Amino acid sequence: MTDQSHARHTEPGGPRTAPGPDAGRRPGAGAGAHDCADAVERALGRLDLDGKARLLSGQDMWSLPAVPAIGLRSLVMSDGPIGVRGRQWSAEDPSVALPSPTALAATWDPELARRAGHLLAQEARRKGVHVLLAPTVNLHRSPLGGRHFECYSEDPLLTGAIGAGYVRGVQEGGVGTTVKHFVGNDAETDRFTVDNRIAPRPLHELYLAPFEHIVTHARPWGIMTAYNQVNGSTMTEHHHLVTEVLRGAWGFDGCNVSDWTAARNTVRALHGGLDVAMPGPRTVFGAPLAAAVRAGEIAESEVDAAVRRVLLLAARTGCLDGVPPAVAPADAPQGIDGRAVARELARRAVVLLRNEPAGEGPQDGAGPILPLDPAALRRVAVIGAAARDARVLGGGSATVFPARIVSPLAGLRAALPEGVEVAFATGADPRTRIPHAREGFTLRARYLTAEGRLLAETPQFDGRVQVLGSFPDGVTRRDLHAVELTGSFTPRATGTHTLAVAGAGRLRLSLGGEVVFDGDGAGREGSDPFEAFMQPAEHRIDAELTADQEVSLTLRFVPHSLGLGEGMGALNFVLGHGEPRLDGDGEIEEAVRAATGADAAIVVVATTEEVESEGFDRGDLRLPGRQDELVARVAAANPRTVVVVNSGSPVELPWRDRVPAVLLSWFPGQEAGAALADVLLGAHEPGGRLPTTWPARLADAPVSTVTPTDGTLPYEEGLFIGYRAWQRAATAPAYPFGHGLGYTRWEYETLDTTPDSVRVRLRNTGDRPGREVVQIYLAPTGDTSGTPERPARWLVGFATVEAGPGESAETEIPLPGRAFEVWSEPDGGWRRVPGTYTVEAAHSSADIRLAAQITSR
Ligand code: BGC
Repeated sequence: MTDQSHARHTEPGGPRTAPGPDAGRRPGAGAGAHDCADAVERALGRLDLDGKARLLSGQDMWSLPAVPAIGLRSLVMSDGPIGVRGRQWSAEDPSVALPSPTALAATWDPELARRAGHLLAQEARRKGVHVLLAPTVNLHRSPLGGRHFECYSEDPLLTGAIGAGYVRGVQEGGVGTTVKHFVGNDAETDRFTVDNRIAPRPLHELYLAPFEHIVTHARPWGIMTAYNQVNGSTMTEHHHLVTEVLRGAWGFDGCNVSDWTAARNTVRALHGGLDVAMPGPRTVFGAPLAAAVRAGEIAESEVDAAVRRVLLLAARTGCLDGVPPAVAPADAPQGIDGRAVARELARRAVVLLRNEPAGEGPQDGAGPILPLDPAALRRVAVIGAAARDARVLGGGSATVFPARIVSPLAGLRAALPEGVEVAFATGADPRTRIPHAREGFTLRARYLTAEGRLLAETPQFDGRVQVLGSFPDGVTRRDLHAVELTGSFTPRATGTHTLAVAGAGRLRLSLGGEVVFDGDGAGREGSDPFEAFMQPAEHRIDAELTADQEVSLTLRFVPHSLGLGEGMGALNFVLGHGEPRLDGDGEIEEAVRAATGADAAIVVVATTEEVESEGFDRGDLRLPGRQDELVARVAAANPRTVVVVNSGSPVELPWRDRVPAVLLSWFPGQEAGAALADVLLGAHEPGGRLPTTWPARLADAPVSTVTPTDGTLPYEEGLFIGYRAWQRAATAPAYPFGHGLGYTRWEYETLDTTPDSVRVRLRNTGDRPGREVVQIYLAPTGDTSGTPERPARWLVGFATVEAGPGESAETEIPLPGRAFEVWSEPDGGWRRVPGTYTVEAAHSSADIRLAAQITSR
């Protein structure tokens, strides 16, 4: 056996290569840049002004028009970061659901992000999607940010590295990406209008940095410009940031697609560098653009430049005749097992925050409680609404419909040896809305004309029927009158079940042939029309049902309207179902009884779609409902309590020191429970490290404001977000950036530096094989007077190593030149700051293991 084994080095950035029109091509695949440019020019030359203008405007929710005369097929785009939904917003064609972006970032492994990208490209090809509307690389500025779960990190380097891995992976599969939301969409409050005031240094050093890294290292074929304004200009019209910085300074040659409905003005958007206005059919481009050219407000050459970029995207993705795609279909990664990738990602992302001895109990030695020894378990209590109905993905545009979901309860049941008793108790259900009907239901949707003629029938994943964009094949907006959600339900418990119906239209529910609700439903009042549409007000109906006795049911919905705004087909109604429940106290008591005397109590706590999703920010960081009380009560009843936190972003964990183990599963994707069992029972080590600092209390967070005043949100904290801010705060966070435990121990043995790299040698001193994320921070030392203000330390590189017990591993990590630079005004460029620096090799931002001095000139 060699002393040094399994050492693996992951360079965050990957090799730097010059961007060019051939970007993303694999050697030998496709045509050269010249052929591509010729084909684009030929196609452009055959379009008249109206044809060109049409090509810059969505034809519907998700696609651009085909132009058969020039050999151009329709280019299809789809969300989103964790799966590929496809053209339908429905379960008709299920998608593999990977863990949330925060989870992907918690792996600190760009290579894994790349493999996720390969799978997503495979999914996209299967669904006829050419461009994925992802990745989301805005920063975790405030923990209240509603789409925190959909972004990677508070750190620009980690965000850029994961994002670059993701983009590489997707594009190696021949599918384009639109890196989003360029730039400053770091919160949701008033997202369509807010003017984020960001000074040049934080703008370049923090918020633009991930985009710059991805553009210069992974060469995305697209970018999505955000809803918000930055420093007075809305991002779809931001000439300086789009034309001068993104295209000029960074050499981006891809296509600039607006966020959905973000393009507001024909002339300003085109001047600002926008290429495509989405969604269609009515946008500020298309006919209004042709009219603006005819009126002399825009030069046709400007339209040509945008059309060239759309045609280049079409060429790259195989939608333009006469030029081979950037990746020949045969060269794209294929045959990837989606379930296996989803499970591997989910367990690699689990962050073990705390793992202490349990104190007392039948199988305790002195060691930490995890991993549990399956052979020593006789009875396990699994507690929490999310243990049975896992929250596997974030809401809003990131939604996909997986073919299956493995809940924590199901995953543990499957993994535990036969004979181990598993007792489930809800304990506390934080959901204020009745969940979509799923468990025990077999449903399909029937689309009908006013005369009752069947237009289409589709299988349903759950009780939500949702269309956003394209209606199912055979259904037109003109003919559609009603939709019936119909099928059967076999209850698993006897008692009073709660059914709920919601949707802006006439709703009639019949159960076992009897009408139990007939009335009008409404959309929810809300400032964000998307949110109002997504969460209509619900009506509840009690139903006395018997376990195992099947009942038939039909929910008929006649919508008030079939559109969301002009021309955009949309439909949304819901059948919800809640199991018979005890009252709140009774549920907690039941959980305490289940936990008492169990060999382990596993409590899954979660956020809900009502408190954490797209379209709004969070009001606080508390776990909703009575979940904190539940954990405290269960922990008091059983010292062997393990808490799994199922949220996409930070929550307060007031009981964290009263339980021996706490793990974060994030939104773990469809294989949630299988991955959790892998980790809890020790088949695999939890591999994650925090991509963002977890505060003990919201009040401690150095930056939290997300609410604009008079339309503007000043980023007053400047450079100091995340750990950069916590390092100078009076209070320590609950868990620092970079923190995460494994099942072994590491000793950092040596740190050697050169001016542009560091070499770290470390040894696995535990008794299990393990994986460590070696983090490198840079801290200015000595006399820093006269130098620009900078954080105490910042992340400059990282790498993952693996080693068996007793073995050592070595990794070399580059020190990028940018690590020593600051953005300097008024000249507007990067400037190296000479001086003495401490290079730190660390287990987390607060656990520095080795340090060395270097001098930068
Ligand atoms: C979101 C985008 C998304 C788009 C299409 C917008 O509301 O901000 O991230 O790609 O919708 O679903």
